[in-house]
Amino acid sequence: MEAPVAVRGRGITKVFGDVVALDHVDVSMTQGQIHGLVGPNGAGKTTLLGLLLGLAVADEGSLDILGAPVGRGLAAPDGVSGFVDGPGLYPTLTARQNLATLAALCPDDAPAAGVEESLEQVGLADVADVKVRGFSLGMRQRLGLAAALLTRPRLLVLDEPSNGLDPVGKKHVHGVLSRLVSEGVTVVLSSHRMDDLEALCSEVTILSSGRVVFSGPVAKLSDDSRELDYRLRASDPSAARAVAAGTPGIRIVEGPDAAARPDTGVIIVRARVAAVDELVARMVREDVAVRELAPVVSPLEAAFLALTEHPARTEPGARTEQPARTEQPARMEQHSEQPARTEQEADR
Ligand SMILES: Nc1ncnc2c1ncn2[C@@H]1O[C@H](COP(=O)(O)OP(=O)(O)OP(=O)(O)O)[C@@H](O)[C@H]1O
Ligand SMILES: [Mg+2]
Repeated sequence: MEAPVAVRGRGITKVFGDVVALDHVDVSMTQGQIHGLVGPNGAGKTTLLGLLLGLAVADEGSLDILGAPVGRGLAAPDGVSGFVDGPGLYPTLTARQNLATLAALCPDDAPAAGVEESLEQVGLADVADVKVRGFSLGMRQRLGLAAALLTRPRLLVLDEPSNGLDPVGKKHVHGVLSRLVSEGVTVVLSSHRMDDLEALCSEVTILSSGRVVFSGPVAKLSDDSRELDYRLRASDPSAARAVAAGTPGIRIVEGPDAAARPDTGVIIVRARVAAVDELVARMVREDVAVRELAPVVSPLEAAFLALTEHPARTEPGARTEQPARTEQPARMEQHSEQPARTEQEADR
């Protein structure tokens, strides 16, 4: 049975003047999952999140949120909360007063979480009576999350929530999000932090110049047929080097590209997955212990770089007449009929 969908967008287009911020975007977000939105600056992430929050209306396309079609009016769809471009807070009020003020705005019949509970969850109980103007960026982010939790959302929309978080703040936020999804809440968040996305998200949409270049499960981004660089640390580095040099399909990367400090005994090998498997088997046969073997960049980061830097070259199915994507947004006159790659296509 197919998992229920919390958000389904089809052909969503949003234009600001002559800038096409979203260009026929197709996206599906599975209920009870964390869906990551990633893309270069100006790719359209905040614009898409703003549509989900009802802060703006699409010029074209259809959007269903939590089973209901989004209309033409500016209003937060039922069950949705969150923020884009940083949370809106009152600087002269304390954290507790900010939340109490927002809680008072919630309709009486809406499900509401307590102010204290929300502060506790994001780890701000100790500074509840400090005025927000004295808050650091990370503290503001956490208070923004607490504010979004007040309405007990079924879809939580967060624009770069990890921005400015220290490791403790990040742990709190990750903990809150993981608990929410275990309760069936859907979370969609944007981030430039691949490690965060990798740790949190089961699905991801990669945007480039307003277009979807990938949307689907993170696991589908691993492409075993693509060569990747791997860090290899072994009990005997010179023996490991000799085994690697003699294994078909393995290339040892030297020089400035090697991404390994010379003093660590780490070597960098470039290979497809099958060759890496063979390398491990040979190392074991030669009695060389493998202590570390991992891609230098994660599959998500590799896909991000490949799909957003040189999409036409790296995506085998891509139409070659598509203009190379840059960090500039698409302009009206550049619009082509290139279909967005969706999770269905990624399935193939
Ligand atoms: N209100 C607006 N008026 C005019 N142009 C806008 C507006 N909002 C967004 N844009 C433009 O739309 C494009 C997409 O912007 P958006 O903020 O969605 O990108 P983003 O992916 O969130 O980028 P970043 O990573 O920098 O946050 C950009 O070119 C931006 O300048
Ligand atoms: Mg943004």
